[in-house]
Amino acid sequence: MVVFTSHKSTSFFFVFLCVAALGSVFLVWQKNAINGFLVLGGERVWESPKLRPVVFNLTDFGGVGDGVTVNTQAFERAVSVISKFGDKGGAQLNVPPGFWLTAPFNLTSHMTLFLAHDAVILGIQDEKYWPLMPALPSYGYGRERPGPRYSSLIHGQNLKDIVITGHNGTIDGQGQTWWTKHLHKLLNHTRGPLVQIMWSSDIVISNITLRDSPFWTLHPYDCKNVTIKNVTILAPVYHAPNTDGIDPDSCEDMLIEDCYISVGDDAIAIKSGWDQYGIAYGKPSKNILIRNLVVRSNVSAGISIGSEMSGGVSNVTIENILVWESRRAIRIKTAPGRGGYVRQITYRNLTFHNVRVGIVIKTNYNEHPDAGYDPSALPTLRDISFSNVRGEGVRVPVQILGSKEIPVRNVTFQDMNVGITYKKKHIFQCAFVEGQVIGTIFPKPCRNFDQFNEQGELVKPAESQNVTDIDYEI
Ligand SMILES: *[C@@H]1O[C@H](CO)[C@@H](O)[C@H](O)[C@H]1NC(C)=O
Ligand SMILES: *[C@@H]1O[C@H](CO)[C@@H](O)[C@H](O)[C@H]1NC(C)=O
Ligand SMILES: *[C@@H]1O[C@H](CO)[C@@H](O)[C@H](O)[C@H]1NC(C)=O
Ligand SMILES: *[C@@H]1O[C@H](CO)[C@@H](O)[C@H](O)[C@H]1NC(C)=O
Ligand SMILES: *[C@@H]1O[C@H](CO)[C@@H](O)[C@H](O)[C@H]1NC(C)=O
Ligand SMILES: *[C@@H]1O[C@H](CO)[C@@H](O)[C@H](O)[C@H]1NC(C)=O
Ligand SMILES: *[C@@H]1O[C@H](CO)[C@@H](O)[C@H](O)[C@H]1NC(C)=O
Ligand SMILES: *[C@@H]1O[C@H](CO)[C@@H](O)[C@H](O)[C@H]1NC(C)=O
Ligand SMILES: *[C@@H]1O[C@H](CO)[C@@H](O)[C@H](O)[C@H]1NC(C)=O
Ligand SMILES: *[C@@H]1O[C@H](CO)[C@@H](O)[C@H](O)[C@H]1NC(C)=O
Ligand SMILES: *[C@@H]1O[C@H](CO)[C@@H](O)[C@H](O)[C@H]1NC(C)=O
Ligand SMILES: *[C@@H]1O[C@H](CO)[C@@H](O)[C@H](O)[C@H]1NC(C)=O
Repeated sequence: MVVFTSHKSTSFFFVFLCVAALGSVFLVWQKNAINGFLVLGGERVWESPKLRPVVFNLTDFGGVGDGVTVNTQAFERAVSVISKFGDKGGAQLNVPPGFWLTAPFNLTSHMTLFLAHDAVILGIQDEKYWPLMPALPSYGYGRERPGPRYSSLIHGQNLKDIVITGHNGTIDGQGQTWWTKHLHKLLNHTRGPLVQIMWSSDIVISNITLRDSPFWTLHPYDCKNVTIKNVTILAPVYHAPNTDGIDPDSCEDMLIEDCYISVGDDAIAIKSGWDQYGIAYGKPSKNILIRNLVVRSNVSAGISIGSEMSGGVSNVTIENILVWESRRAIRIKTAPGRGGYVRQITYRNLTFHNVRVGIVIKTNYNEHPDAGYDPSALPTLRDISFSNVRGEGVRVPVQILGSKEIPVRNVTFQDMNVGITYKKKHIFQCAFVEGQVIGTIFPKPCRNFDQFNEQGELVKPAESQNVTDIDYEI
C-alpha cells in the first residue's frame, strides 16, 4: 500500500503491476480517496456519479503541481494505465490541490477525472505544444481558418463512460495569449477548445470550474447521453473572442443544469454543422434539456441556437434561465445556405435583467465556410414557443427577423411581461413571422400574430405577416 503515497514518478509501473495483479484489494484502500464513499451509520452510501473500483493520484505518475513543471507525460501515463481497467469498471484519476501545467492530452473510456478543491489544471500557453487535428467533418474547416485545427486541452474521441468532476477544482485554459494572438492575426490555425469530447456517449461533467478557454469552452461533438451539471464557466466578458460556454454540437440526449456561465461569447450555443459540410454530415442536435442556469454574455447571447445548424436542431427545452447584463438573452441565428431546421423549441420561465435585446431570431447571419455553399439550401424555422417571460431593463424585448426566403412559422407567446428601459415605438419587432399570442402580453405584440384569449378564442387575427417594421439594428 505504501506505493500509493509515493511521490516518485517511476512508481507508476509498479502501481500498474500491483493493480493488475491485485484488483479488488483496492476496495480497502479507496476509503481515503477524495471522492470515496461516505460511511453513514455503518452503511456505505455511494455518491453520484458512480465510483470507480480503482483510484489513482496524479502524483503516482510523476505529476508535480508547482505551476511550472509540465505534466503532460504524467497525465498520459495515468490515462494509459486507466485504459487497462475498462472491463473492470474503469478507474479514477485524482488531481490534488496545486497548479498542474500541461499540454493537451486524451482521455480514455470508463475514466473519472477528479479535481480536488484548489486543484487547477493549467493549459500550456505556447501553441507549439498543441497538436493539430483534422477539421471537424461537419464544418469542413477549422472554423476560423482552413485546414487542421488545434486540439482541445482535454480531448476525447470514440469513448464511452467519461466523468469529469471534483470538489470545484478548475481547468484553466490560460486563454489570454491565444486571444491576443488571435486578435493580432498571429495564428495560422483555429484555436482549440478547452474540453472537447467527440463521437462518445455516457458523459458526465459536474462540480467543476472551467475558465479562460482559448476558444469554445466545452464542446461535446456528435455525442449521446451527456450530462453537464453544477459547472461554473468563466472568461472575461470583453476581448475573450469566441469563448462560448457550452456548444452542444450534433448531440442528442443532453441535460445541462444548475450552471453559472459568464463568458466572452454565447453562454450556450446549440449547433449541428456548417452549410454544405453540415448538410452532408447530417447529424442533428436533439432531445436537449437546459434548465436552472444563470448566464451572462456582454457581446453575444445567453442561450443561442446556430448559427451553424445545418444538421438540424429539434426538441430543445430551455427553462428557468436568468440572463443578466447581456447584449441578447435568447437568440436563434441562421442564414440561406445552412439548410437544416430549427423546430420544437420550448422556452419557459425566462428572466432578463438588463439586456439590450430579449429574444432575437435572425435569418441573415451570412457567415459561410467558403463560396461552395448552396444559397438555395434554406433552413426551416418553426414551432417555437415562449412562456412565462419576465424582464426589466430591456431595450428591445423581441426582434424576429424572418425573410421572404426563410419565414419563421408557428411562434407562440404566452404570459410575457418585460419591462423596457425607455419608451420607443418599435419594441416588438417582426418580419416574416407568423404565430399566436395567448392572453395579454407586454409589450404589445406586432401585428403578425393571431391573438387569442386565455380560453383559446381568437380575438384578433394577424394583419400582416410579412410586414417589416424593424427600424434599427441592434
Ligand atoms: C496525492 O498525492 C499527494 C502527494 O503524495 C498527497 O499529498 C495527496 O494527499 C494524495 N491525494 C490523494 C487523494 O491520495
Ligand atoms: C456534486 O458534489 C456534491 C457534493 O459533493 C455531490 O453530492 C454530488 O453527488 C455531486 N454531483 C455530481 C453530479 O457530481
Ligand atoms: C488524441 O487522440 C486523437 C485521435 O487518436 C489524436 O489525433 C490526437 O493527436 C491525440 N491527442 C494527443 C494530445 O495525444
Ligand atoms: C456543486 O458543486 C459544489 C462544489 O463542488 C458542491 O459543493 C455542491 O454541493 C454542488 N451542488 C450540487 C447541487 O451538486
Ligand atoms: C467554484 O469556483 C468558482 C471559481 O472560483 C466560484 O466562482 C464558484 O462560486 C464555486 N462554486 C461553488 C459551488 O462553490
Ligand atoms: C504562421 O505561418 C508563418 C508562415 O509560414 C510562420 O512564419 C509563423 O511562424 C506561423 N505562426 C505560428 C503561430 O505558427
Ligand atoms: C447515460 O450515462 C450515464 C452516465 O454514464 C449512465 O449512468 C446512464 O445509464 C446512461 N443512460 C443511458 C440511457 O445509456
Ligand atoms: C424530447 O427531449 C426530451 C428531453 O428534453 C426527452 O425526454 C423526450 O423523450 C424527447 N422527445 C422525443 C419525442 O424524442
Ligand atoms: C423560474 O426560474 C427562476 C430562476 O431564473 C427560479 O428561481 C424559479 O423557481 C423558476 N420558477 C418556476 C416556477 O420554476
Ligand atoms: C458590457 O460591458 C461594458 C463594460 O463593462 C458595459 O459598459 C456595457 O453596458 C455592457 N453591456 C451589456 C449589454 O451589459
Ligand atoms: C405549433 O407549435 C406548437 C409548439 O410550440 C405545437 O404544439 C403545435 O402543434 C404547432 N402547430 C402547428 C400547426 O404545427
Ligand atoms: C408572406 O410571405 C410568405 C413567405 O414568403 C408567403 O408564403 C406568403 O404568401 C406571404 N403572405 C402574404 C400575405 O403576402
